[in-house]
Amino acid sequence: MRVKALPLEQLRQRTSEKWREYPEDVLPLFVAETDFPLAPAVARALEHAVRLGDTGYIASRTPLPQAYAAFAQRRFGWTPDAARMRSTADVSMGIVELLRRVIAPGERVIVNPPVYPPFYELVEEAGGVVERVPLRDTGGAWELDLDGIAAALASGARAVLLCNPHNPTGTVHSAEALDALARLAREHGATVVSDEIHAPLVQRRVPFTPFLASGDAAAEVGFAVVSASKAFNLAGLKCALMVAGSAEHAALLRALPVEVEWRTGQFGLLAAIAAFAPESDEWLDGLLLTLDENRRLLGSLLAEHLPEARYRMPDAGYLAWIDLAGLGWGDNPARRILREAKVALHFGPAFGAEGRGHVRFNFGTSPEIITEAVERIARIRG
Ligand SMILES: Cc1ncc(COP(=O)(O)O)c(C=O)c1O
Repeated sequence: MRVKALPLEQLRQRTSEKWREYPEDVLPLFVAETDFPLAPAVARALEHAVRLGDTGYIASRTPLPQAYAAFAQRRFGWTPDAARMRSTADVSMGIVELLRRVIAPGERVIVNPPVYPPFYELVEEAGGVVERVPLRDTGGAWELDLDGIAAALASGARAVLLCNPHNPTGTVHSAEALDALARLAREHGATVVSDEIHAPLVQRRVPFTPFLASGDAAAEVGFAVVSASKAFNLAGLKCALMVAGSAEHAALLRALPVEVEWRTGQFGLLAAIAAFAPESDEWLDGLLLTLDENRRLLGSLLAEHLPEARYRMPDAGYLAWIDLAGLGWGDNPARRILREAKVALHFGPAFGAEGRGHVRFNFGTSPEIITEAVERIARIRG
């Protein structure tokens, strides 16, 4: 059964960033929060905890690693070793903690623009220096530039911060590309940290390969950082898992200060366990159906009302990367759209120079809001 977004009057009562950054006349389609109600099992777990006042610190042993391993087996056909995982507050913090331990200050970390803007800051927070190796646009798809990555590694880059699936393009990297990346990293003694926060949102007919499952090399060189937070809209509850592929990397996880794990939110943990449980699978499948319809609806609305827009349907997630350069609205069309159409989209250039002329549109909402947003934008086209 499809998951339906909440009505706008209810959404406006929310107090999170999506609903408080802009005044009420703006339709907020920028930050990666969704407009759906909580999955029932997640809501029940949280309500139960509220009734009990179960709001203390997370326990030193929790069922989350097992819950994620079982989820990954059901959804991706991959069973990571639950003994090789540790939780932390969020994916961003997991990335910083891992990078910090695999690079020395000042060493270079490869990112693949256009990419989730905080990646640039997370590398710096970990003491690294960003090395940009943009995705290659083949005309029909985006893919990792393996030659560019090989050159960067050969010249001394020490790590790759991978986004799998990729934000903002919604690209699901192929198993072959991931394995090739892992082999390159192994050849050069580098580490890959794979951000898989959008993985639960890969569309059902698209084969998804977790980086650590892409081959022996990946298990040797890689870490994944995963969370239920994007699919189940739990970002404010603070829970993510760092996953090691090898015994050596598992030892690195175990050596992290216990405080890294203690920053996990108890509500985030309880919600994630419920989200990864088999009883939430049906809800997640319903959400994917809704997002499939929404990504198609967005395509047809753009074709009808904004024929200059260039849009490729993402294979994962609820974020659309749209090239509006054809409208002649400058490097950052989202500014004019915010000012004149009262629709808040994410600024393309924030994702890297490749994002000039682009916007990122969050379609994790109702068909009515998507339609209204595109119509508002089309009206300022004149
Ligand atoms: C690729 C990617 N990584 C990380 C994050 C942030 O995750 P967290 O809130 O767990 O740090 C996001 C949020 O949208 C994201 O898209």
